[in-house]
Order: sequence, then structure tokens, then C-alpha cells
Amino acid sequence: MPPHVFFHKRFMPLSEAKIGILTHALHYGTACFEGIRGNWDSERGNFSLFRVEDHYKRMLNGCRILRINLPYSVNKLCQLTSELLERSGYREDVYIRPLAYKSSEALGVRLHELEDDFLIIVTPFPPYLGTKGIRCCTSSWRRVDDTAIPPRGKICGTYVNSALAKTEAWENGFDEAIFLTHDGHVSEGTGENIFLVINGELVTPPSSDNILLGITRDTVIKLAKNELAVHTIERQVDRSELYLAEECFLTGTAAHMAPIVEIDHRPIGNGEIGKITIELQKLFKEVILGRNPNYPDWCTMVSPKLIKA
Ligand SMILES: Cc1ncc(COP(=O)(O)O)c(C=O)c1O
Repeated sequence: MPPHVFFHKRFMPLSEAKIGILTHALHYGTACFEGIRGNWDSERGNFSLFRVEDHYKRMLNGCRILRINLPYSVNKLCQLTSELLERSGYREDVYIRPLAYKSSEALGVRLHELEDDFLIIVTPFPPYLGTKGIRCCTSSWRRVDDTAIPPRGKICGTYVNSALAKTEAWENGFDEAIFLTHDGHVSEGTGENIFLVINGELVTPPSSDNILLGITRDTVIKLAKNELAVHTIERQVDRSELYLAEECFLTGTAAHMAPIVEIDHRPIGNGEIGKITIELQKLFKEVILGRNPNYPDWCTMVSPKLIKA
């Protein structure tokens, strides 16, 4: 079964889904996307789509910012996503990428008087940064500000900011970059939110520090509170607090929970993955597979259709 996508309002083979070279979004970044996980449960033989509704609610916010008119309800978008996953034939962890974009083949920077379109692709994807502990640097690039491009939506053009920082980090031998805001407060990773453990509590930057309000961030805050009685403080974080934190980790749909063991060549804590991080990672793994009964609304189970050989 060749990979399938949802494109031009129908399911079709990936090889048939093409866009023209004048497409507005290609030239000006006028699009927004989501990243949704289908977590494969090999024991039960099904996928667990994690918080798919919340992803589409956020995507619709991005569309409002970009004045993209998406003619689907959240329910319909969830249904299309389940159907694409059913048809995909994959039996491993996948990443689902819906994209809403300015599809007019027209030059000229603007948002108005342009047509919109929508597509969904699905692709196999293991945890993006690994789970064993990563090395980060603070980036020389500052996080794009809400006064420039709102980081509240996953707007394609914004990701040039992330790409600059990611490649700088990679070329300098690090796994990931941590952005500071213009006034020097810790913001987030290039595709993840950041948490610190300070005095046994979780600390994470607030939405006013130009972060994407991550669904994994929200999940971790709730799991820490409900399951471990660990409180999260959302407040401004100074760079030096990164160096003094007891533990530190990144959260994101692609990365899941990625423990940080070193920042700017300084070990975090004793340089090993911390206790609270390990407990949260364990809980998170159960929850994304729908194995924790306390969160019945977070997972949508999808069984792959039997595909003829
Ligand atoms: C810039 C940025 N921050 C944070 C996140 C984490 O958000 P979520 O947990 O909803 O995937 C992402 C990934 O989507 C991102 O691109």
C-alpha cells in the first residue's frame, strides 16, 4: 500500500499530491500546521491518537491569525485524521502533519484575497531527540516576539527562527538550542517547551515569554499535579537558573519528554537524568498509549485496516 495523504478534499497516494511552484505559502510562509502523534501499541495492535482535538483547536487559532478559512469543524478534522491513519498501513509510531495554507498561485505579500487549502500527511517518526539525555546550548538567536510573528500558532514562517537556532546548535555539536527572549529570559526550544526542577517543583516559562502553548507542556503540568503532587510554577526564568536547576527537560509532540543533561557545557544537577523527570517520563508513556484510566478523553484509539499484501 503506497503512502496516502488527504489533499484537495480527498484521500490520494502521496505521489499524486503536488502543488504549483507559485503557491503563496511556499514563497511567504503563509501557512500553519500541527504535529500530532499516533502512538503505536504493539500489544493491542492499535494507534492511540494523543489529544487530537486540542491540536486542531490550536490549529484553528493559527488559521484565525493568518486569516485562513478552514471549512472543517474540529470533529471533522479529527475524523479525517483517524481515517488517514487507518488507511496508512503503518504499524509503528507515527507523526501526523496537517497543514492549512494560502494556496493561491499569486505573487504579493498579504493575507487577504487569497484562496486557502488544507492537507494532512502521516509519516513514521521515532522520538525526535531520543530519551536518554541531550546536550543543549542557549542560542545566539532570540525567540521571535509576539509583536513580530505570534508564536501562539504554529505558523510556518516562524520556523525560520527555529531552523536558524537548530542548525547553529547542531554545527556547534549540541542536540538542541534554547531560545531566550529579547530581554534575556528563557523561552523554549526550537520545537519544544522547557521545564526546570527547582526545589522539587516544576518551573516553566509563561505564555508571555513567546512560547507555543504546548499540549505536551499542559499534559506534563497535569500529570505532575495529579499523579505526583508536584506543583508547576509558570514564571519568567533567568538564563542562570538553567545552570542551577536540579533537573531540566524539554516537552513536545515530536520529542515527547527529552531529559537535558547539559546546557552550555555545564552539567544539569549531577549530569544524569533526574528522579522527577524519570517518573514523569514513565507516566507520560502510559498516558499517551491510553493506559491510564484518569485521562479517558486524551486518547482516540484507531485500528489499522487490514491491508492486502
Ligand atoms: C516552537 C514549539 N514549541 C513547543 C512545541 C511543543 O508543543 P506540543 O507539545 O503541543 O507539541 C512545539 C511543537 O509543536 C513547537 O514547535
